[in-house]
Amino acid sequence: MQAWQVHENGEPSEVMRLAETERPVPGDGQVLLRVRAANVNFPDALLCRGQYQVRPPLPFTPGVEICGETEDGRRVIATPALPYGGFAEYAVADAAALLPAPGALDDAEAAALHIGYQTGWFGLHRRARIEAGETLLVHAAAGGVGSAAVQLGKAAGATVIGVVGGAEKAAVARELGCDVVVDRRAEDVVATVKEATGGRGADVIYDPVGGESYAQSAKLAAFEGRIVVVGFASGTIPTPALNHALVKNYSILGLHWGLYNTKDPELVRQCHEQLTELAARGAIKPLVSERVPLGGAAGAVQKVADGRSTGRIAVVTEGAA
Ligand SMILES: NC(=O)c1ccc[n+]([C@@H]2O[C@H](COP(=O)([O-])OP(=O)(O)OC[C@H]3O[C@@H](n4cnc5c(N)ncnc54)[C@H](OP(=O)(O)O)[C@@H]3O)[C@@H](O)[C@H]2O)c1
Repeated sequence: MQAWQVHENGEPSEVMRLAETERPVPGDGQVLLRVRAANVNFPDALLCRGQYQVRPPLPFTPGVEICGETEDGRRVIATPALPYGGFAEYAVADAAALLPAPGALDDAEAAALHIGYQTGWFGLHRRARIEAGETLLVHAAAGGVGSAAVQLGKAAGATVIGVVGGAEKAAVARELGCDVVVDRRAEDVVATVKEATGGRGADVIYDPVGGESYAQSAKLAAFEGRIVVVGFASGTIPTPALNHALVKNYSILGLHWGLYNTKDPELVRQCHEQLTELAARGAIKPLVSERVPLGGAAGAVQKVADGRSTGRIAVVTEGAA
């Protein structure tokens, strides 16, 4: 089969190589899946660079989120078990963690309902306990996890402010349903959000970026606000001043969605049922901005690594939707 492999760590476009390899053999409790669509996630870039929290043995195939087909013909969503990731014709995954692909969504959209939306659901509902009528601020609102958080925030009845980098992303954020969009490249984020909220700031802040975005989050947290720490796409891990959190009465909430898969897999399943239901009635719809063939995977991962993508880029295999 054809599979992308990373033989050494570095920039995705330099270290990902398309190779002819053997189909992976599933281990205990695992299944072989024919990949229908594999979406690019920021962690794919971190995996290539050797900067992710897990470092699979080299060579490995990246691709952490797929819609695939089981040998008995079921269309499922899975997070492949590395080193046999999704940028390949076949991947392996834990049988117990497979989820049914929603009928309302095509392959790429179904895969995109997984990591971004699960993370958004756990972040907003489980960790931040968002309520209708509250204000939600989402950094990188046109990105993968950001676009999901925007839609889930709207579905929860929140007023959503999206912060994005650039005019093209601002248009995407508006299309996603943001009530207010701030272009961090052209506007003063803190001043604009303060003005839009009558000086209050946001009740819930969803931050997949860190760095300067986190500094803005702290300045924009409302009284009893909750900052959800989702990721560090900026490359800078903030060191928050806890006296500031005390003085302003806000909470800093860590979120590691992957941990729920081992700590509370039943909750992940319940979340998937709710997401499937929301998708079926059109309350959420994953944004798949590009669909590329398997040969385009390295370029797609590099685009996400560089912060140039919106929504998800899907690597779609021949014959699949
Ligand atoms: N905690 C969890 O459980 C969990 C789960 C899934 C993902 N994550 C994390 O969430 C983050 C987003 O993941 P994603 O796959 O959805 O990616 P993404 O948001 O689609 O891409 C990253 C975005 O971050 C912004 N950004 C700001 N500075 C950047 C820089 N120096 N380089 C690249 N991007 C930069 C860009 O948007 P703007 O230009 O609009 O700012 C870019 O589009 C990642 O850090 C990922 O590891 C965490």
